[in-house]
Amino acid sequence: MSVHKEVKKVTTHVLHEMKQKGEKISMLTAYDYTMAKIVDHAGIDVILVGDSASNVMAGHETTLPITLDQMIYHASSVVRAVDRALIVVDLPFGSYQGNSKEALNSAIKIMKESGAHAVKLEGGREVKESIERILTAGIPVMGHLGLTPQSIYKFGTYNVRAKEEEEAQRLIEDAHILENAGCFAMVLEKIPAKLAERVAKELTIPIIGIGAGSGVDGQVLVFHDMVGLNNEFNPRFLRRYLNLYNEITAAVGNYIRDVKSKDFPNDKEQY
Ligand code: KIV
Repeated sequence: MSVHKEVKKVTTHVLHEMKQKGEKISMLTAYDYTMAKIVDHAGIDVILVGDSASNVMAGHETTLPITLDQMIYHASSVVRAVDRALIVVDLPFGSYQGNSKEALNSAIKIMKESGAHAVKLEGGREVKESIERILTAGIPVMGHLGLTPQSIYKFGTYNVRAKEEEEAQRLIEDAHILENAGCFAMVLEKIPAKLAERVAKELTIPIIGIGAGSGVDGQVLVFHDMVGLNNEFNPRFLRRYLNLYNEITAAVGNYIRDVKSKDFPNDKEQY
């Protein structure tokens, strides 16, 4: 029997057990009650209330504009829907980079006001102190290395990270630093598969990849990309399981046609 099937509630301990048993971890983003309910009932292990809400929910070009209060709004909607998955919430840009006290206060606010189970933050050695401080309050922390979208203006592009030896070496060091600081898991985004596999082998905590190949302990995708709600974003790593953009466009078209032709509502669809 898989760990996944046995558990009523996914905890950080369950994720560690899954890694030890070689069972892959499934993770998706969700930002609202209705979608979170579907994703949870389908049996996902981890729901990430990602700051990608800034892009897919609010239409911003980057993840930078979303605020702590907006993240809490999304997270508390998700928490109301979920029975089983572990819910991790992104600390948004500007809510933790200042100093470790600010990071702790932001993490506490998220946990207190949303009811989520853990936080995620981006970065390596530069956020070590913040991770340690957040952990002193008993809040589990997920790390995030590789392509870290909150630093887009430093990188300049959303291209694959750590292709060069020097950056790859630094990423490996940072991964160890985050594990030693106490992170319970880590996202590796858009890095070469071989590098991600090496990190997953060297670390005991679960490594969840996005565009990081199959040698890691689990996978995460942005829900809207995975179900094809957005047809403009086509990175190589994305597998679309539906094409909801086309399906919804057709459904809306049919509705407009039925309203205009007076076919809707019919006799049975009124009081
Ligand atoms: O915000 C987000 O959706 C993320 C994932 C891409 C890992 O951080």
